[in-house]
Amino acid sequence: MSTIDSMPTVNQTASALVSAGATVIRVEDLHKYYDLGETRVHALRGVSIVIGQGEFVAIMGASGSGKSTFMNMLGCLDRPSSGRYLLEGIDASQHDKRALALIRNQKIGFVFQGFNLLARTTALENTALPTMYTKIDKAERSKRAAEALAMVGLADRAQHFPSQMSGGQQQRVAVARALVNHPSILLADEPTGNLDSRTSVEIMEIFQNLNDKGLTIVLVTHELDIAQFAKRVLVFRDGKIRKDDAVVNRPKAAEVLKTLPTLED
Ligand SMILES: Nc1ncnc2c1ncn2[C@@H]1O[C@H](COP(=O)(O)OP(=O)(O)O)[C@@H](O)[C@H]1O
Ligand SMILES: [Mg+2]
Repeated sequence: MSTIDSMPTVNQTASALVSAGATVIRVEDLHKYYDLGETRVHALRGVSIVIGQGEFVAIMGASGSGKSTFMNMLGCLDRPSSGRYLLEGIDASQHDKRALALIRNQKIGFVFQGFNLLARTTALENTALPTMYTKIDKAERSKRAAEALAMVGLADRAQHFPSQMSGGQQQRVAVARALVNHPSILLADEPTGNLDSRTSVEIMEIFQNLNDKGLTIVLVTHELDIAQFAKRVLVFRDGKIRKDDAVVNRPKAAEVLKTLPTLED
């Protein structure tokens, strides 16, 4: 943990950043219990936070500190036990499963550690999957999927299957899939957890480019080097936010890549 505490950060700047953009996420006193028969796990213990449009937030913290539970709440994959969650002003804590699925499909792009691509399905078709639940027609779906693949630098891999791509390329397809419905926010839970360090920085380059275009991003990582590419770092401990700091002297992933050896070296 000493590495997190020694990170150069300025506390006031975090709240200044928040007030810069319109509020995308507002969480108020969120609690989550998991009931396991006899025992009960109190995974989130009163989390409150505001995240503005255009922010890029990294979440760190020890294993079991509640990061994934929190991301699942933000992503409308699960509901809090108590507290409020407003996503662009919509109270997600008040909706049932079906309504949450709709909100999720329209507003949220999710990227996981495992790429979760369909094996017998091309990059283009994998990317297009979330559009199946929308009303847009087939031609428009393919067009959007192709655009999303281009955004992650994979325009020339549209007809490849997952087995024909590297881990980094597969994760880029997963990012394209997360972007295809033009979400308000991109949520990524340890997206570089299965990738080597250079490939991880390549993913962060894509995230920084998307964020520069205005996309709001929340990312979980246990690597300080990766968190530094974000603009703001939260540290979870025992189901609570213990630190909330702006990153100073944020590196540009594109610059860092120039200093890293390529796979061929
Ligand atoms: N589906 C679940 N059922 C029961 N307990 C869970 C479940 N998911 C997480 N937990 C517990 O909640 C706590 C927080 O877990 P999690 O959010 O996964 O932490 P992190 O992502 O920071 O490692 C842990 O004690 C974990 O064991
Ligand atoms: Mg986790």
